[in-house]
Amino acid sequence: MAKVNRNYLKLPGSYLFSMIGERIRTYQKQHPDADIIRLGIGDVTQPIAPEIIRALHHAVDEMGNAETFRGYAPDLGYAFLRSVIAEKDYRDRNCEISEEEIFVSDGAKCDCGNIQEIFSADNRIAVCDPVYPVYVDSNVMAGRTGVYEPEAARFQDVIYLPCTKENGYVPLLPKEVPDLIYLCFPNNPTGAVMKKENLQEWVDYARKHGSVILYDAAYEAYISDPEIPHSIYECEGARECAIEFRSFSKTAGFTGLRLGFTVVPKDLKVEGTALWPLWARRHGTKYNGAPYIIQRAGEAVYSKEGRRQVREQIAYYMENARIIYDGLRSSGYEVSGGVNAPYIWLRTPEGMTSWEFFDVLLEQAGVVGTPGAGFGPGGENHFRLTAFGSRENTVEAVERIRKM
Ligand SMILES: Cc1ncc(COP(=O)(O)O)c(C=O)c1O
Repeated sequence: MAKVNRNYLKLPGSYLFSMIGERIRTYQKQHPDADIIRLGIGDVTQPIAPEIIRALHHAVDEMGNAETFRGYAPDLGYAFLRSVIAEKDYRDRNCEISEEEIFVSDGAKCDCGNIQEIFSADNRIAVCDPVYPVYVDSNVMAGRTGVYEPEAARFQDVIYLPCTKENGYVPLLPKEVPDLIYLCFPNNPTGAVMKKENLQEWVDYARKHGSVILYDAAYEAYISDPEIPHSIYECEGARECAIEFRSFSKTAGFTGLRLGFTVVPKDLKVEGTALWPLWARRHGTKYNGAPYIIQRAGEAVYSKEGRRQVREQIAYYMENARIIYDGLRSSGYEVSGGVNAPYIWLRTPEGMTSWEFFDVLLEQAGVVGTPGAGFGPGGENHFRLTAFGSRENTVEAVERIRKM
């Protein structure tokens, strides 16, 4: 008789954004004329940059010609993309990463969710609290956690690293030593960043204890402060203890195109076993490569003109972030993030839970954000707004919130 993976039954409720969607639909049914502005889900709104569109068109035409047609992509990605990533994202920043260590994929969500497969089921994980839910949920599915405790809103056997106002939403080193440590900076949802010396402490800690850091740098392109590291490989020794995830989604508007990559250095070993061949084996067995057309579009992101256009787009979103940050702060909200990250993290007004604030904001301002509690118990009494809306909607949303 077939049996289900009962670990799935440990997962409470539905995915955060499905819950939000459900609430919006209910509200819309009751208020069919409501003009709702969505600053909740972290999806981009600006069109793909012209230089990337040009590369897409060119690659599509190549597919229609026998001489230039491409079938299955190489498992780990086309050399033209892997080499430009290694050069521009890493070697130009003095990070010693080779093109062979770049694994191209269709996005960071899959990679962050799948990476746990190459680790033993008895590894103990540590996550920030609040956290991007994929890290925890994928480990729950794999049976790497205990049951969910509804009152604490936590899973047993997970080390939660509190990210609070007091520590500037940057976790302290844990006393209880984890095997796998998920870090994400610039952070979703808090918009916090980690300074290089702080990240170096985590790298030193991981090397001392034989832990592996799973570093999600999906938002590195939003860093403007030169003191903030873009990659964990800017830290000494990170090649021996860290895997890094990157995404083209927020960097170049690829949320719908789908492209990302993971870096697994060849020096990274666990119990004497290199992880690079394991991830290569996993990738080769379960994945057939990101589409040629999309990888050519990814390559265009690194061209001179592509870079200029993409940077302009990021500047546009960061101006939205400034408008939200300044607008809310000047009307008395306690806000953080939004400077080197496209997320603004605010404290809900006194005595209001994050879901209560969600309802108030929807009803009184017609603005949708994301309740902090959806990212873990540490997110309670907080709320996330994204800078990914259009300028017009962002300005209008801030005006409406200020009038509440
Ligand atoms: C922290 C973080 N990592 C990864 C992702 C997923 O990126 P992708 O679109 O490449 O799957 C997101 C998307 O919102 C994210 O916030």
